[in-house]
Amino acid sequence: MPKKIFSGVQPTGNLHLGNYLGAIKNFVDLNNDDQNECIFCVVDLHAITVKQDKDELRSNIRETAATFIASGIDPSKSIIFNQSKVHAHAEGSWMLSCMAPMGWLNRMTQFKEKAGKDKEKASVGLYIYPILMASDILLYDTTHVPVGEDQKQHLELTRDIAQKFNKDFDCDDFLKSPEPLIKKNFSRIMSLKNGLKKMSKSDLSDLSRINLTDTKDEIINKIKKAKTDSFQIPNEGQNLKDRPEAENLLGIYSSISDQTLDKTLKEFGGKNFSDLKSQLAEVLSSKISPISDEIKKLTNDYEYLDKILAEGATKAEEIAGKKIAEMKKIIGF
Ligand code: TYM
Repeated sequence: MPKKIFSGVQPTGNLHLGNYLGAIKNFVDLNNDDQNECIFCVVDLHAITVKQDKDELRSNIRETAATFIASGIDPSKSIIFNQSKVHAHAEGSWMLSCMAPMGWLNRMTQFKEKAGKDKEKASVGLYIYPILMASDILLYDTTHVPVGEDQKQHLELTRDIAQKFNKDFDCDDFLKSPEPLIKKNFSRIMSLKNGLKKMSKSDLSDLSRINLTDTKDEIINKIKKAKTDSFQIPNEGQNLKDRPEAENLLGIYSSISDQTLDKTLKEFGGKNFSDLKSQLAEVLSSKISPISDEIKKLTNDYEYLDKILAEGATKAEEIAGKKIAEMKKIIGF
């Protein structure tokens, strides 16, 4: 069965190794399988759930599209567009938000993390953002959604919302429940400075993450400074318990080298972290630097990026426009 793939990335700057290994690298593999129909969206409506500078937002939208292409997504095979260009996303989000109970949203752990202690000051948009994400996915009859582990709960909510809509309006399988595609072992890349914290664009320390625009020297320096512990690298995975930094670096090495953790442990078991770090810096810079160079080249070519985004939006609009029209009919508009 051909898969219908949809996924999104926020254009909030500093796309990093977590975004790449958790999501974008999988987008590329899915794009390369000719059987799949892939849609990759720059989710700019999601980005404004926190305050954005308008010039930075505009440039980050292009940079995110450039990152997709530089990583290997072929715009002639996959649809690449930015969310705000296709009205159906916001419309669908409103209709679904009228169906989804608040109790479901109250359970979303990412809102609690992002809103922090002062929930009252967080935007309503940040609170209902998982519904916009559900709208993104459901408008395209998506069968599979490649994401990092932090999005798992939002996908469960998407499935619940789809089922509730179908039941409330007695319309069987109208909204399709999608399957998450989450890589088993390496779907949560952690900070280089704290193995218990997710690698994130909002971390104040730039040393905590490898940005996809980092130079070779920056990558080498960050890996050199990455936190480790004072033991040797173990031979077996079970001995990585309570050693989050070791587990993270070994996981990053395995994922970027496309090999299992067991194979990596065979390679490095009994060795010191300095051995792992020098190899890791080597492999990371050989894989990330070409992407970084290509992002820089593409972001200078506004015309090309804007053309890709405009063509993508036209194709997305065709699909989502039909679905939203049916949805309105079902509701009674
Ligand atoms: P966003 O922009 O925060 O992240 C984009 C993708 O990167 C993954 N990711 C990670 N994976 C592993 N380790 C990490 N440290 C790490 N940090 C980020 C995320 O899981 C995600 O896959 N709500 C989404 C965007 C979105 C979306 C959608 C995704 C909007 N609509 C529809 C799928 C389908 C978000 O904020 O991702």
